[in-house]
Amino acid sequence: MFTKDMKMADLIHKNYLLLSIISRFGIPLGFGDKSVEEVCNDYKVNTYFFLDIVNSCSYESYFTDVQHKHFSIVSIVSYLRKTHKFYNDQIVPEIQCLITNLYQNCFQQKDNVKLLFNFFEEYKNELLIHIKREEDIVYPYVLDIEKAYETKKISKELTEQMKNYSIKDYLNEHSDIEEKLLDLKNLIIKYLPPTSDFKYRNKVLVKLFQLEKDVNDHSSIEEKVMAPKIFDMENFLFSHFSIVKLNIDDE
Ligand SMILES: [Fe+2]
Ligand SMILES: [Fe+2]
Repeated sequence: MFTKDMKMADLIHKNYLLLSIISRFGIPLGFGDKSVEEVCNDYKVNTYFFLDIVNSCSYESYFTDVQHKHFSIVSIVSYLRKTHKFYNDQIVPEIQCLITNLYQNCFQQKDNVKLLFNFFEEYKNELLIHIKREEDIVYPYVLDIEKAYETKKISKELTEQMKNYSIKDYLNEHSDIEEKLLDLKNLIIKYLPPTSDFKYRNKVLVKLFQLEKDVNDHSSIEEKVMAPKIFDMENFLFSHFSIVKLNIDDE
């Protein structure tokens, strides 16, 4: 388990996948022998929230502890938004670039590689739609819920919204964006006929594994940390302000 007194450098030595997570917090490399706490203080990052994220992304069993902690929805959403940005600006373009490279360097089976390219394009579009819905609808909603819960004041708009939509609906509609990545990986591992371009294929594959792990962790934070907190706050607001949820099926 990572603690605040450990050297920040050791976190990366133990789990190099944390590299992209640490930079998402706005912490650049070059931290010398400084501890996690010292580096977090230097960059005005909440050490405990940082530790919870890096621990839950490194040790599966840690997740249940994180679920019971009191983070603000503001800090969770801010982290989730940075993760979306990492997908949009970094890892997805990197994978596209690697697949293009693979295509340019393959002299047999070009059609099959084209298929892989198209398949990834489809995945990318699905991911972008998923992200846009969360950024435009879900995150603003959960932030409003936290605000109403904390101030014990609720706007007319939010009351109306709560009648028609709740975090339960989000959980029901939250699509599994990891599943297609497994198909993509299998396309390379099992089905692309063997050719001499294996080093390019391996590079694509390694990045797909990285994206899959990251998306998995991200979805767990949304479903197992953010959603249960919102669920509790909604329940309080429903009874405190006597809001009755409309049953869509009855309409
Ligand atoms: Fe998300
Ligand atoms: Fe999501």
